[in-house]
Amino acid sequence: MSRRIAVLGAGLMGHGIAQVAAQTAGYEVYLVDVEQRFLDRGMEQIRWSLNKLVEKKTIAGEDAEKTLSRIHPTLSYEEACSDVELVIEAVPEDVEIKKQVWKKVDAIAPKDTVLASNTSSISITQLASYTSRPQRFCGLHFFNPPQLMKLVEIIRGRLTSDETIEYAKQVVTEMGKEYVLVNKDVAGFIVNRILVPALNEAVQLVYEGVATPEDVDKAVKLGLNWPMGAITLLDYVGLDTTLHVLEVLMNDYQDPKYRPSPLLREMVRAGLYGRKSGRGFYTYEKKQP
Ligand code: 3HC
Repeated sequence: MSRRIAVLGAGLMGHGIAQVAAQTAGYEVYLVDVEQRFLDRGMEQIRWSLNKLVEKKTIAGEDAEKTLSRIHPTLSYEEACSDVELVIEAVPEDVEIKKQVWKKVDAIAPKDTVLASNTSSISITQLASYTSRPQRFCGLHFFNPPQLMKLVEIIRGRLTSDETIEYAKQVVTEMGKEYVLVNKDVAGFIVNRILVPALNEAVQLVYEGVATPEDVDKAVKLGLNWPMGAITLLDYVGLDTTLHVLEVLMNDYQDPKYRPSPLLREMVRAGLYGRKSGRGFYTYEKKQP
């Protein structure tokens, strides 16, 4: 019988993680959200992505069909979590929401089910404490877009067992990804601790009038060979998300190097979140769902 997992949250990251689990690892995936419209949008994004992959001949049409048939959208946590070996949570970055979700899952999922959060900014140890099995809890941090990005950070919480880490390595490998081990549960893990201050610095250069957003992007693309310029990447990740991670870094490390640029704060206040809101430093026509 195929292996079964649950992905909680059909948003930006959740839908992509569900797709990779079904497409590459061949798992049966229960995709859960709180409203039908969120599930519908997640499934629409998965269909869009699979079509792109077929168009580019990365996968065959038949594989896209099989992938879709393995993803089961549902509003029921009971249906999704009562008989799965792994639950990956990708609900909004809000401690209260995650706390409620994990308490609910812990009561439903079999005792040996591994629990993993895709959080980018909340402590894994703290999230694990909302369950009765912190030794079976770890972080699995995917990158956007999960369908294309090769890396997953595996984060060890204070009480995570070696067995859970070994299991996480196996799952990530089956999903066709590479992993790095984050041996301490620190804010930003590895990638965001490097990336987010860099994106903040890019905004600060624009704020100080040192360069235009276009030239900051050109400098980063051609001078550092990043696939996207720093300002484009900021729009892609989301200005709100970036500000949130910076605030967590600032709070945890109490180091002024993480202080958000005033321009970043101002743009977030204005609702200029980037691609997701249609406008950040650049303006976007809706192309992807
Ligand atoms: N599924 C399938 N196809 C997709 C896709 C998806 N989810 N998203 C984009 N594509 C498509 C594009 O639409 C494009 O198709 P088109 O040519 O028909 O328009 C195609 O993929 C290829 O795109 P590009 O030719 O522009 O670029 P690449 O193939 O080289 O790569 C990329 C695209 C992987 C997104 C690359 O631009 C990239 O690596 N950008 C940086 C992304 C990054 O740094 N992500 C990490 C963010 S940090 C994070 O997530 C952590 C969080 O906690 C903040």
